[in-house]
Amino acid sequence: MYSKEVMDHFMNPRNVGEMPDADGVGVEGNPVCGDVMKLFIKVDGDRIVDAKFQTFGCGAAIAVSSMITEMVKGKTLDEALQISKEKVAEALGGLPPQKMHCSNLGADALKKAIEDYRQKAGSKN
Ligand code: FES
Repeated sequence: MYSKEVMDHFMNPRNVGEMPDADGVGVEGNPVCGDVMKLFIKVDGDRIVDAKFQTFGCGAAIAVSSMITEMVKGKTLDEALQISKEKVAEALGGLPPQKMHCSNLGADALKKAIEDYRQKAGSKN
């Protein structure tokens, strides 16, 4: 019932871990199940150059987290904001309908990380 991309990102998640010198951090909890994702981004100019995650959640949430960290690298902040939960699910070859709520975590944590970065960058100027 899971695509081969989901299984691959679940079994071999990319970019797991903390980023102590992150420029932006976003934390999102899923009200449906209580799972939590933390997403870290490193920004150079207006481009995301690195991303990492820590997720306490189901297999789909781990696969979503892993995929989203891969998708954002090299994107500008505005481009990264266009990454919707549907786009992450699509990149993973689809998610079962009852698991679509898991992709919210990734998209929302990413938005929060970008907001966090923008707030910090704004307060420096
Ligand atoms: Fe909680 Fe998937 S069941 S994020």
